[in-house]
Amino acid sequence: MSLEGMTVLVTGATGFLGGALSRRLANAGARVRALARTPERAAVLRGIPGIDIVYGDVTAPDSLPETVRDCQIVFHVAVSFGSRQLQQAVNVEGTRHIATAAADAGINRLVHVSSIAAYGYAQEGVVTEDTPLATVTHDPYSETKAEGERVLRAVASERGLSYSIIRPGMIYGPKSSMWTERLFRLARLRPTPFIGDGSGATHPIYVDDVIDLLVIAATHPAADGQAFNATPDPASTWRAFIGEYQRLAGHQRWFAIPVSPVRRLVTALAALAPAEHLLKAAPLALDMMLRPSLVFRNAKARQLLGWEPRTDLRTGVERCAPWLRERGLLR
Ligand SMILES: NC(=O)c1ccc[n+]([C@@H]2O[C@H](COP(=O)([O-])OP(=O)(O)OC[C@H]3O[C@@H](n4cnc5c(N)ncnc54)[C@H](OP(=O)(O)O)[C@@H]3O)[C@@H](O)[C@H]2O)c1
Repeated sequence: MSLEGMTVLVTGATGFLGGALSRRLANAGARVRALARTPERAAVLRGIPGIDIVYGDVTAPDSLPETVRDCQIVFHVAVSFGSRQLQQAVNVEGTRHIATAAADAGINRLVHVSSIAAYGYAQEGVVTEDTPLATVTHDPYSETKAEGERVLRAVASERGLSYSIIRPGMIYGPKSSMWTERLFRLARLRPTPFIGDGSGATHPIYVDDVIDLLVIAATHPAADGQAFNATPDPASTWRAFIGEYQRLAGHQRWFAIPVSPVRRLVTALAALAPAEHLLKAAPLALDMMLRPSLVFRNAKARQLLGWEPRTDLRTGVERCAPWLRERGLLR
């Protein structure tokens, strides 16, 4: 079902995914209410037909009832990658506040953007949506994304809110600072230094494919109350992913940093780090990065919602080239 003519709120609209989603929804004829915190950050959305900018903050619950009023759908995309305290405030309490406001406003559905990080870093083999979420990972992002989901489910069951949770892999595409800009900066080094031979599994998903799933989940009856992985299945490898960025940069040279000394170093740093420090998560995260047999199954979204990723890695990375040129990173 199309969202044409519906009023939809997008939190995190000034960010990478939320911005791309807002533009897609407006193109499709939805009336997009784009939540922004500051005029500076909202500038990228100004003047786009179909997008109304509203100011607010998910950590300020008093601002939210007005923001959500008369919306049919809420896409909750906002996130903090900051301090543990900030991540708790935005990713957990912010989710509680937006879900509560959405339930009170009687919206049709809230689509919540979570992450495969919510499963934690101890996974191997096959991870499905039935795999339990992480509790303690020492990484506030992973922990607060998992807790945000739990809070959403609790609010939804108390207040009768329809919701759907999407857990993307590593989202790349134009305007992605993490999985496009940073990875391209690494890949253009000749040779490209990387821990090991790059045969570990990785889970990149092109931004448009994630948006396809978010849009379907907003209205599909089978998405109600369900979580879905938005992942490549089968998984890719670091070598293949970085290799596509290397192709853009015009080389394929690889420098394998030996794994054992890196593992020893990371383990020692984790042991020395104070409790709660992100470094405590590093050994598990390193192991996960090196593990060749790890896949986040996407069969549930395929079977229940008819979604599948449409963009292969080569095509997706090539679509990033104009933006990398604009940024002066690629000739
Ligand atoms: N990028 C990935 O690879 C990836 C992978 C899996 C899942 N995800 C999930 O996808 C979602 C979007 O990620 P992204 O990469 O697009 O993030 P992003 O570019 O960093 O954008 C984050 C957005 O959240 C907003 N925000 C932060 N604190 C807020 C607050 N207190 N109130 C309202 N808005 C607030 C930011 O506003 P300002 O512009 O004002 O800072 C920004 O618009 C997140 O839920 C993330 O967990 C991302």
